[in-house]
Amino acid sequence: MIEIQNVSKSYGKKQPLNRVSLTIPEGEVFGLLGPNGAGKSTLLSILATISVQDQGTAQIGGLDSKKQKKQVRRKIGYVPQDVALWEQNTVKENMTIFGRLSKSKATKDELKKLCSDVKLEDQWNEKVSSLSGGMKRKLNIAAALIHDPDILLMDEPTVGIDLQSKLEINQLVKRLAQDGKTIVYTTHDLNEIVTLFDRIGVLKNGAFSFVGTASEAEERYSSDKGSDWVYAMLQ
Ligand SMILES: Nc1ncnc2c1ncn2[C@@H]1O[C@H](COP(=O)(O)OP(=O)(O)O)[C@@H](O)[C@H]1O
Ligand SMILES: [Mg+2]
Repeated sequence: MIEIQNVSKSYGKKQPLNRVSLTIPEGEVFGLLGPNGAGKSTLLSILATISVQDQGTAQIGGLDSKKQKKQVRRKIGYVPQDVALWEQNTVKENMTIFGRLSKSKATKDELKKLCSDVKLEDQWNEKVSSLSGGMKRKLNIAAALIHDPDILLMDEPTVGIDLQSKLEINQLVKRLAQDGKTIVYTTHDLNEIVTLFDRIGVLKNGAFSFVGTASEAEERYSSDKGSDWVYAMLQ
């Protein structure tokens, strides 16, 4: 579903991505890991057609991220690292605006259903500025799903929010995967690293130092002394 080949991206002297390659099959939940500044957001923004790579290709559902931006955008939902909402408007108004922006024909009931899928049904008429951080995150996710994308790109969707919202987002991701959606998700959360993903990939010094399942990672990085494999993997 996603085919990244030799993608490089530099900002001045910094090169967060240096010939990165990765294939993600349809229906996979892929955990994108790595230290701050490793290039996780850069890679997601290239897949979301917001940034353009200097070299290499990224294919999304067989479409080229550089040459077929519009078609790619119809296939992907993007949840950016920083919440982007209209604070002075209600949940309902935000969903309506996002619906128009994505040229979706979703009805009011369908928009409401998306909000109830993320447990925001009671906030439908509330102003966004009055919502908690977790609720705002969930609204941003509901907004990214309006045009029913095949692929969901989620950049640190559970950082700094309450545990209940976090678990609701985790449950939603599992349901979406069951529906056949492909999900790329960045996180620093230990529990998510171990339990949420079909495969994880660690970006480090411009490239993937590991790609595989959590149990493969555990096998590779556990020492006889029983050291913490997640810590060893991220080193
Ligand atoms: N628009 C930009 N202009 C200049 N440097 C950037 C820009 N976006 C990201 N960077 C730099 O690229 C590197 C990777 O950033 P980013 O992709 O945000 O990492 P991550 O999401 O893994 O924390 C960092 O060193 C960051 O400072
Ligand atoms: Mg980031």
